[in-house]
Amino acid sequence: PFIVTEPCVQCKYTDCVEVCPMDCFVEGPNFLAIDPAGCIDCSVCVPQCPVDAIVNASEATQAQRPYIAINAQAAQQWPSITRRQPPLPEHGQWAGVSDKLHLLIS
Ligand code: SF4
Ligand code: F3S
Repeated sequence: PFIVTEPCVQCKYTDCVEVCPMDCFVEGPNFLAIDPAGCIDCSVCVPQCPVDAIVNASEATQAQRPYIAINAQAAQQWPSITRRQPPLPEHGQWAGVSDKLHLLIS
């Protein structure tokens, strides 16, 4: 499956959700995740994300690998999101920041 990774933390642009044919996205307080059980690897969500947060789990870097479990776990807990909404208010200042994993609210 595809997974949402670090750039989404504190940004949550949500451009990704409307294109998913399987309605895979779930929403947490400051991050979105993909339900691996629903994802059909179509990749149409990938170019929608302005901060390139969505990657194929099989191509995840070492730093991105923790997000495989994070997406799977979030999918069990968070509600589905299928409609775009405004990004988080401080998205501009967080978009380029790395090492945001500790900020992720589960
Ligand atoms: Fe949805 Fe396709 Fe993205 Fe998977 S790869 S989350 S099915 S849009
Ligand atoms: Fe997150 Fe990118 Fe979607 S920032 S909400 S994965 S468009």
